[in-house]
Amino acid sequence: MRIAIVGTGYVGLVTGVCLAKIGHQVTCVDVDEDKIAQLSSGEVPFYEPGLGEMLDQQRKEKRIAFTVNPGAAFANAEAIFIAVGTPQGIDGMPDLQALITVAQTIGRHVQHDVIVVIKSTVPIGTNTFLAQIIAEHLVHPVSVRVASNPEFLREGSAVYDTFHGDRIVIGTDDAEVAGILAAIYEPLHIPILHTDIRSAEMIKYASNAFLATKISFINEIANLCESLGATIEDVARGMGMDQRIGEKFLRAGIGYGGSCFPKDVKALLGMAELSGDQLQILQAVERVNRKQQMRLVEKAASRFGDLRGKRIALLGLSFKPDTDDMREAPSLGIAAALLEHGAQVVAYDPVSMNHARTYLPAQVELFESAEQALAGADAAFVLTEWQEFTLPAFVPKLRAMREAVVFDGRNCLHDSVLEDDAVEYHPIGRQLGKKLVTTSFHEKGRER
Ligand code: UDX
Repeated sequence: MRIAIVGTGYVGLVTGVCLAKIGHQVTCVDVDEDKIAQLSSGEVPFYEPGLGEMLDQQRKEKRIAFTVNPGAAFANAEAIFIAVGTPQGIDGMPDLQALITVAQTIGRHVQHDVIVVIKSTVPIGTNTFLAQIIAEHLVHPVSVRVASNPEFLREGSAVYDTFHGDRIVIGTDDAEVAGILAAIYEPLHIPILHTDIRSAEMIKYASNAFLATKISFINEIANLCESLGATIEDVARGMGMDQRIGEKFLRAGIGYGGSCFPKDVKALLGMAELSGDQLQILQAVERVNRKQQMRLVEKAASRFGDLRGKRIALLGLSFKPDTDDMREAPSLGIAAALLEHGAQVVAYDPVSMNHARTYLPAQVELFESAEQALAGADAAFVLTEWQEFTLPAFVPKLRAMREAVVFDGRNCLHDSVLEDDAVEYHPIGRQLGKKLVTTSFHEKGRER
């Protein structure tokens, strides 16, 4: 089929390239001229493993093209996919301006019947609202039918996820539209769930909110493990073996970040509030996450007594590995809090150094290698589980510090760190070196 994709961010571009790969003829359109120029010459403007190679291949086979001209992109399209951003607005709710502009543009340009597929994450009811805007701006007497098709792609594995997703959700009341979308995705052999539009919109929010809940839950259990002497990895493994719970998203750490979870949790809370409902569990999820992001700062403050003048090396700045995205990364709040405590903050990330300067306060000194950042540091905070930090060869590098006190916010350093007498290791969810035989609970029992 001939498909136009509006928006060449990680969702739009990955979707475009993957739809081309399964045989469709794709034209991607974006208002950003530089980005379109870059893409036209085969350059991916952000870090996403595997995407560059696939783009090259599809360009060679002439199945993908890029333009800034919406009229040209829509000219022959049978379906128009919208994947523009819905960043958090000042009121905490997603800012729909880009989507509204796209809807108006579609209305003005389409000259034949077309299906509009909305991939952007939008508050419940937005797809119908956008359908109205398109209808109001139509210049030609054509039929435009709108469907919701939320995406579940993780940054860093978006290409893999497109081909190996657990489900494709299609929200529309129109059986014919559902059939056309199912045919577009058919070569992927992924189960398709057909729902009404509002339920499709809700599935996206509820899924992300549930995953965020799993993370905050395991983080609270991890903190309790530290107090009571259990080991979070074993606990999570044991929980995850129960198929009703599932093993994924039970990695304890310094909380979730990124461009989706924080924003989507806020938006769902906002929608509930506006409709007079309350999501008490989700309110707690957000609170717990905010607190968890400060966990290493609290640990360091209690270990050193006073952080003033301490040189602290942050290792990993992106919100997770395999992406250079620093939006809502825990590293941002942690750097600010350390500076507030009077610490001297230095940092290194293997991939996101290009963004680091824009996101971090100017006082944070950036280094091109972990060794340089660690040299002379009093403590290191591991904030992103980049592969580099997980290798056995990384452990000896920690000795470059003045005092090798390491707070591992992702429990990702190689186990050999436990045997290295020169390193004082503080993971999450485990109390090392503390022999807990009884707890205050037992003492109370004995007294009774
Ligand atoms: C997420 C959803 O997974 C995806 O389906 C949706 O479309 C967009 O949002 P993404 O933001 O790319 O994807 O990252 P993800 O891999 O889900 O991780 C989100 C955050 O949770 C990261 O900060 C990560 O470090 C954290 N996390 C994840 C944990 O702390 N523990 C875990 O067990 C898993």
